[in-house]
Amino acid sequence: MKMQSMARPFLLLCFTLFLLSPCRSDSDPLQDFCVANRQAGDITVDGFPCKPSSSVVSDDFFSMALSKGGNTNNVFSANVTSADVLSFPGLNTLGVSMNRIDLAPGGLNLPHSHPRATELGFVLQGQLLVGFVSTSNVFYSKIVNEGENFVIPRGLVHFQYNVGKEKALVITAFNSQLPGVVLAPVSLFGSNPAIPSDVLAKAFQVDQQVVNLIKSKFGN
Ligand SMILES: *[C@@H]1O[C@H](CO)[C@@H](O)[C@H](O)[C@H]1NC(C)=O
Repeated sequence: MKMQSMARPFLLLCFTLFLLSPCRSDSDPLQDFCVANRQAGDITVDGFPCKPSSSVVSDDFFSMALSKGGNTNNVFSANVTSADVLSFPGLNTLGVSMNRIDLAPGGLNLPHSHPRATELGFVLQGQLLVGFVSTSNVFYSKIVNEGENFVIPRGLVHFQYNVGKEKALVITAFNSQLPGVVLAPVSLFGSNPAIPSDVLAKAFQVDQQVVNLIKSKFGN
């Protein structure tokens, strides 16, 4: 009986922490805003130092970063443009950011993950196959059309692939001012310095020539 009465608040606390933990991303700000002072030097822990409030102006809270799509004339026929704290300093400490993904027909936004954010997508134009793989190795995917949303849980490998006949445009929102991106093929085959080829040959169970061929596609 006594055990039970102690266990209950403890379980409740655990449950509450469990519920809260996946919602946490960037830490909560302790002031209205902290427009990033990019001149102040390198990135510091948890963002950038603030511009003095006296020099903050309206323009700090508006951005044209996503007004134009990137050039999709590349090998993947896709381009991602970011409105994150680096291109939009007003986002500093606010815990949100946004991307636009432009994809020509057949364009692929490479399998990648965002270590610091969940991604909420909205298809403005086109038709895409969107999918991610869970930590249980289950592949969840669907063809999404104009006007539809998708969500990619934080940290999971995912992609967007234009399967339509027209160009596609996707807007994605993140619960981080700088979600970070790990492009799976680039991380493995295009890192600097390169991962030793025998490691990759063993991992992918192929000859080193195959590894070297793939490496050459990513600048290694
Ligand atoms: C994406 O578009 C930008 C702006 O047009 C361009 O500078 C950049 O090289 C493009 N990236 C790729 C991978 O083509």
